[in-house]
Amino acid sequence: MSGDFQAPKGVSEYFPPRSGIFEKVVRKLEQVSLAANYHLIELPIFEDTELFTRGVGESTDVVSKEMYTFEDRGGRSLTLRPEGTAGVIRSIIEHGLDRGQLPVKLYYRGPFFRAERPQAGRYRQFYQFGIEAVGLDDPFLDAEVIAIAYRGFSSLGLKNFELQITSLGDDESRSKHRVEFLKFLANLDLDGETLDRVKKNPLRIFDDKRAEIQAKIKEAPVLLDFLTPDSAMKFEALKRALTELGIPFVVNSRMVRGLDYYTGTAFEFVHRDLGAQASIGGGGRYDGLMKTLGGQDLSGIGFGLGIDRIILALESEGLVNSSNENAKSDDGYLDLFIIPIGDGAKLRAISLIEMVRKTGFVADMGFGDRSLKGAMKAADKLNARHVLVLGDAELQSGQGRLKRMADGNEVSITLDSLVASLKNAI
Ligand code: HAM
Repeated sequence: MSGDFQAPKGVSEYFPPRSGIFEKVVRKLEQVSLAANYHLIELPIFEDTELFTRGVGESTDVVSKEMYTFEDRGGRSLTLRPEGTAGVIRSIIEHGLDRGQLPVKLYYRGPFFRAERPQAGRYRQFYQFGIEAVGLDDPFLDAEVIAIAYRGFSSLGLKNFELQITSLGDDESRSKHRVEFLKFLANLDLDGETLDRVKKNPLRIFDDKRAEIQAKIKEAPVLLDFLTPDSAMKFEALKRALTELGIPFVVNSRMVRGLDYYTGTAFEFVHRDLGAQASIGGGGRYDGLMKTLGGQDLSGIGFGLGIDRIILALESEGLVNSSNENAKSDDGYLDLFIIPIGDGAKLRAISLIEMVRKTGFVADMGFGDRSLKGAMKAADKLNARHVLVLGDAELQSGQGRLKRMADGNEVSITLDSLVASLKNAI
């Protein structure tokens, strides 16, 4: 039965047992961020459309082709957030978070929306975990941000990925490069549409998937060769810091980030098993963004990691078991499953289970009217470590038998001291 409705095309959804992996990924990334003194910011899913057109840039695919924009009942143009950075900076300015200690260190997670053509690893609603460190321009802060993503991936067990870094320099570096780059492009025979894109942002041509274009730009001048001494020094400091931290990286001078606000450091984490949608995370520094949005002229740096793609990467590296047929997930287990026989037993079970849960154990009980055999099967499927059957005899005597499912071993216990017995058993 497929029912009358299906989720909209291209959205990603998570339900047990796979949602357990989702939770684990978010929790790990939260842990590494909290350990570095980043704190949660929870933001609206929709914002003024102009926040993104101005913040992310009109030359980008994200803004020009992929936004979910709608008018609300008051005739205001709103957009489902396609990314997180613009909203974070909006909130920092609006609430004056940049008037205290700098850098402001924040993390966020949640759904983001881009009307892209759906395919494996590319969704219209997807999930990101992101951090932003706003207010200081210091290459060692860039290193910290990259290190948090790296530690996050490593602590999840991921191995088959590569960190790529580059520098997009400052205004001066970019305008020097732009002159030479446009001279180079002028000698190529490019079609009208490509020329239009190049005018808005010349670097976007590196993103062109067509082999003939890639062949034409093989010898194109790269920005890294035009860095001002200040930008070059910062890039060197970043590389030194990453080396000091034992974080391997490669320099990719042709990296093009999909959003226009980047300056200076830019980076991407590319997973080798994921084919066309290989970027499991990316980010960089943005010097002008806050000023563009009407705030102080402060720089910031951050990343967005794609949770959906991280899960695909974990699966491809064989690090999780997310088969839907198997109800026993890696993490889903119960410390105790109580099987009550009859209503009197259910009444006792429901309060016993409450007590057990209060002490931090994970516990559940049999609901409905299942046979003892059926309930035992359920306990097994739920990965219960211990089972307690509650029938008339147990209610009367106040005694029961706690069964350890791993080996079938049983111990006699007093119902009133169930929690203590469980603690002993585990
Ligand atoms: P982004 O590179 O556009 O950066 O997205 C970050 C990550 O989100 C990507 O590397 C990818 O893993 C995931 N992602 C993006 N689009 C999709 C999609 N359609 N389906 C599945 N996953 C996707 C940003 O969004 C910046 N705000 C990151 C940042 C923060 N830069 C500075 N601070």
